[in-house]
Amino acid sequence: MNMDMKTAVITGVNGQDGSYLSELLLAKGYRVVGLKRRTSTINTGRIDHLMPNPNFVMRYYDLHDASCINRTFDEFRPDEVYNLAAQSHVAVSFELPEYTSDGICRGTLNLLEAVRRVSPSHECRYYQASSSEMYGDSLPTEETGFNEKSPLCPVSPYAVAKVYAHHMTQTYRKAYGIHASCGILFNHESPRRGETFVTRKITMAAAKIRHGLQKELRLGNLDARRDWGHAKDYVEAMWLMLQQPKGDDYIVATGQTHSIREFLDEVFAYADLGDWKQYVRFDARFLRANEVPFLLGDSTKARQTLGWRPKYDMRKLAQSMYRSDQAMIASAQVAY
Ligand code: NAP
Ligand code: GDD
Repeated sequence: MNMDMKTAVITGVNGQDGSYLSELLLAKGYRVVGLKRRTSTINTGRIDHLMPNPNFVMRYYDLHDASCINRTFDEFRPDEVYNLAAQSHVAVSFELPEYTSDGICRGTLNLLEAVRRVSPSHECRYYQASSSEMYGDSLPTEETGFNEKSPLCPVSPYAVAKVYAHHMTQTYRKAYGIHASCGILFNHESPRRGETFVTRKITMAAAKIRHGLQKELRLGNLDARRDWGHAKDYVEAMWLMLQQPKGDDYIVATGQTHSIREFLDEVFAYADLGDWKQYVRFDARFLRANEVPFLLGDSTKARQTLGWRPKYDMRKLAQSMYRSDQAMIASAQVAY
């Protein structure tokens, strides 16, 4: 190994963000140590293309097991740690509140303790995946949306746990001088987005309807508004945060908000399927015990301090996700 090479540890490496961040860091000449949990079936589809790279190393890990973190840190002495692992589905967190909270809260604390232990003189930098879901059912007081000073009003077990992890990261930064940053990322999607999140559910359904493989699409609340960006843009902001002289908190968002209806308009028009109302059926199973009605982020601080800019807006994002799903379904049909 080249001694000048930086080493980054990424938890949740096989998730949407973990895969894009790994690509970015490998392209920048890092050694990437990717941590993933053991599953009974193989779920490395997003990172299989990285496996042949000698600078990409994988280790097993679980948010609920501190010993694997300590072993990994002792073995690799990371320069940067990106904590991306989480049970990240908000609706599922109502069904699995203990599991979701324990993983996010204890998992974050274990990592912060490990950073403090292996890096007493603060060389190791830490990134925490905080979330716009922490703003909950409050509305922004500014027209430009939520900013880093807006109050946090979480309304799901997932969001409450993310608030804990957010405050714990700030606490370790203040108490021990750790270079720790929280990225308050608004919703970000991509062709690699999990299929149970609303955007991907919609683009997959449109592609299947186009090919005659699906007749209807069942959804819950169509009035919620989200600030949707592309995951590839957002992982760049994560890296930029850790290149600053000090740790800090930054909102990462496009500054535009759209309803689920508007996302449907965009995808079904692009797929040339006519009015989506012909296909979409309301299904109360997809409603949540509490809803976050409105998200819009003001990323002025990230734009000014990090020089970060998103390249994708909702329209470009929706079109690229549909194109990718359409191509995948078309090639699967050829294969059959
Ligand atoms: P994702 O695709 O759901 O990936 C989550 C990763 O965490 C997966 O690799 C998953 O492994 C892993 N994981 C889950 N439970 C685990 C456990 N008990 N032990 C070890 N690993 C575990 O999420 P994402 O969209 O990439 O998001 C990355 C992070 O950013 C998450 O913390 C999420 O909460 C946060 N975030 C996401 C968004 C967004 O819009 N995408 C916005 C704000 C914040 P499996 O594949 O085995 O499940
Ligand atoms: N998943 C899903 N499925 N959501 C639906 C459906 C459906 O069938 N029908 C309507 N929705 C609505 C949800 O009620 C919610 O208001 C909105 O679509 C977005 O839901 P998701 O795509 O599941 O994302 P999320 O906003 O709850 O959470 C995502 O973004 C957070 C950042 O704000 C996740 O990636 C979180 O991990 C992330 O922290």
